[in-house]
Amino acid sequence: MLSLIYLIGSVTFIIGLKMLSNPATARRGNAIAAGGMTLAILGTIFLYRHHGQGLHNYGWIMAGLLIGGVVGLVSAKRVKMTAMPEMVSLFNGMGGACAALISVVEFEYMTAVIFTGAPVRMQLVIILAGMVIGAVSFAGSVIAWGKLNGSIKDISFKGQHIFNLVILAVILLLAIVVTVALPAATVILFVVILLLSLLYGVCFVLPIGGADMPVVISLLNSFTGVAAACGGFLYNNPVMLTGGILVGSAGTILTILMCKAMNRSLKNVLIGSFGGPKAAGASREQGAYKEITLSDTAVIMAYAQKVMIVPGYGLAVAQAQHACHELETLLEARGVEVKYAIHPVAGRMPGHMNVLLAEADVPYDKLLEMEQANGQFNTTDVVLVLGANDVVNPAAKTDPASPIYGMPILDVENARSVIVNKRSMKPGYAGIENDLFFQPKTSMLFGDAKQVLQQLVAEIVNSL
Ligand code: TAP
Repeated sequence: MLSLIYLIGSVTFIIGLKMLSNPATARRGNAIAAGGMTLAILGTIFLYRHHGQGLHNYGWIMAGLLIGGVVGLVSAKRVKMTAMPEMVSLFNGMGGACAALISVVEFEYMTAVIFTGAPVRMQLVIILAGMVIGAVSFAGSVIAWGKLNGSIKDISFKGQHIFNLVILAVILLLAIVVTVALPAATVILFVVILLLSLLYGVCFVLPIGGADMPVVISLLNSFTGVAAACGGFLYNNPVMLTGGILVGSAGTILTILMCKAMNRSLKNVLIGSFGGPKAAGASREQGAYKEITLSDTAVIMAYAQKVMIVPGYGLAVAQAQHACHELETLLEARGVEVKYAIHPVAGRMPGHMNVLLAEADVPYDKLLEMEQANGQFNTTDVVLVLGANDVVNPAAKTDPASPIYGMPILDVENARSVIVNKRSMKPGYAGIENDLFFQPKTSMLFGDAKQVLQQLVAEIVNSL
């Protein structure tokens, strides 16, 4: 019965993950996978038997489930969309801590009933791997969480990467000693490895540019998956194994995809301090930009045939997704064709814009992926850039000295006119100037995205 439950759980994870790849099915996919996980947890609690005996410490288990469940539910309900990467990081860290604790408990059990032989040695290798990877993921995720909420600054010193490599080498060496020295008293060494792994997690994330945290979190997420899979091996538990492997591989693929979409290598993300002062790039004299008034913008948009909206991080900051949808429906009611051009790394997390716009009930068929959108800009009358910057920066195509050179961008300058809404001329995430703002086709519409959109809607309703 329990094996069947584990099989069902594993299948729901795979179906859920597949459904997460499309916004129309993502919510259901998440619920299906969560249902499978609940089934697997309840099955383990009530049906697991060891030498004919079930679990006995139900009080502790239920108290843990209740406290964890309530904390998770309340924080997920309360979190603001802009703070989502922070929360993901913290939850991921908890997964890593959990995997590390499993290893600690299993090591303790092992030393209590110690016996020699190959199977035990193999088990010890898995225990150590789960503990090291889990502890690195936990400590790294907590640092990433602190960086994202601004409480921890980027800290780097000369020779830091060598220092990190030395810690890693010592961890490996001690792990080999513990495995070979079995069954001698290795508890102290085990504790040292745990502490060094935590230190490595901290030192690994500390120097990485704060703005690169989403990529690092995805990488740490894959670490947690591997650590959980180690737990699956230890307990011979297929659902833990499948779940861990899926998280490990999905996290790795996501990390690679994010790096690809930014045209950066993982090495550059890990040691590049991107987005920091060093990445400011060549700052040139840009010339003048022109401003546009709200009423002119309203007229241009209301009488256009086709409008393309380019959402970016600023739209999420302003929480302007509902106002944006309102403008879109208003324009459509007047016969204007409105579409959204979604860049794969717009915002600060994968699918950020899709999630944001889905929250405001923007129909999925209005969202064009970058390649599709790029094919349509030359037939677009007006592009409205809402709080986006790097993803529309032509320097990615034209300036080999730019840190974003080679990153695929939305070719908005192919449209007849471009209106850019942001609050100032300040740069975006990459910390570089944007030539687009100074081109003759472009007009700047300054202000907070939400206020500007609300005023635009009012202007169109009342004056046109
Ligand atoms: P950014 O280049 O970061 O630009 C966002 C712009 O929004 C800023 O220039 C800012 O200008 C404006 N803004 C901020 N608050 C605003 C508000 N309340 N109202 C109106 N505008 C506001 O954003 P992007 O174009 O979306 O590009 C994303 C960047 O993040 C890329 O460089 C990408 O590589 C990086 N990144 C993305 C991810 C993922 S997975 N999405 C992961 C890591 C890194 P003002 O301050 O002048 O208003």
